[in-house]
Amino acid sequence: MSHPENTDAVILVGGKGTRLRPLTMNTPKPMLPTAGFPFLQHLLARIEAAGIKHVVLSTSFKAEVFSNYFGDGSQMGLEIEYVFEEEALGTGGGIRNVLDKLRHETVMVFNGDVLSGTDLGGILQTHEDRDADLTMHLLRVADPSAFGCVPTDADGRVLEFLEKTEDPPTDQINAGCYVFRRSVIEEDIPTGRNVSVERETFPMMLNNNRKVYGHVDNSYWRDMGRPTDFVRGSSDLVRGVVPSPLLAGKHGESYVDPTAGVAGGALLLGGTAVGRGSEIGAGCRLDGTVIFNGVTIEPGAVIENSIIASGARIGANTRISDAVIGEGAVIGARCELAGGMRIWPGVVVPDTGIRFSSDA
Ligand code: GDD
Ligand code: MG
Repeated sequence: MSHPENTDAVILVGGKGTRLRPLTMNTPKPMLPTAGFPFLQHLLARIEAAGIKHVVLSTSFKAEVFSNYFGDGSQMGLEIEYVFEEEALGTGGGIRNVLDKLRHETVMVFNGDVLSGTDLGGILQTHEDRDADLTMHLLRVADPSAFGCVPTDADGRVLEFLEKTEDPPTDQINAGCYVFRRSVIEEDIPTGRNVSVERETFPMMLNNNRKVYGHVDNSYWRDMGRPTDFVRGSSDLVRGVVPSPLLAGKHGESYVDPTAGVAGGALLLGGTAVGRGSEIGAGCRLDGTVIFNGVTIEPGAVIENSIIASGARIGANTRISDAVIGEGAVIGARCELAGGMRIWPGVVVPDTGIRFSSDA
């Protein structure tokens, strides 16, 4: 039997979230609202539901945003501690740097931007059954070149670790969740400098014949690092395609925060989420869209597959698709935006001021 209560969770949340700019200029990626909650809150709720109690957040960029929101974790039934890197130490440095806080022999490490429906107890069980030094959650994807490629032998033992390689030998990738034997963190990751587990530690462990096993499954999985995945992940949470303990029993075509207002005749579809204090005008049509907090959408706007950051205002009858609107930006009435456009925070676009479409 796996022992989640005797396992520490470490979540890596120190990245800059560059691919989600400008959303991540003031807010770290794991704190962006997703299906009504900061993304990390869904992960913490899954960790709690799996029976793990002690969580260490490995922070660097915008560290205070995490502790201001989650505090000591008691409201979530967890005990959360924070470790801060003055200078980013990389994924390996971020893990090594929390060693002092660890209490158990088994340490489950999570990339803080992965949405997954996998059974965490199952990964812990594989680790225990194999008596492994390191067990990695692996899965198959259509395009492995954007991830860590991880071939295994017939027995599930990891043969190689190839981070973001052009010509991946298999479609099996690193899902960004590992179980370490605690002593391995101490022995195999150097202190005081930037270390990438993917580029340095894992290849070295394999060279040194450490017992590294894969736990392969075909659960829901998505890296939330790009706008299209962020939007898709949020709507999958809303619709219950991937479960979150925070949304149990509340699944539907849309999620509206209790403090938000939606006028009559507005249509919310495709897993659209509307955050705290936002106002959606009459006759709007929002499809597969993430509306952060304190946003105003004026009547008749049509928005699909887009992210509207906090405090933004969208004018009446404006049409937006596949776009990212930064914090506090003001888009006038009757504008048209499409095709991956990103509007920077605070930018003001006058009425009819934008007509941009990739197929124009
Ligand atoms: N503490 C700390 N310090 N955390 C960091 C640092 C750092 O210097 N750099 C990155 N992180 C955190 C990020 O916040 C993120 O949660 C996680 O580490 C992974 O970083 P990403 O920037 O999202 O990496 P990636 O998506 O390109 O690739 C990683 O994830 C893939 C799966 O989603 C790799 O682990 C791949 O091998 C893997 O396939
Ligand atoms: Mg990522």
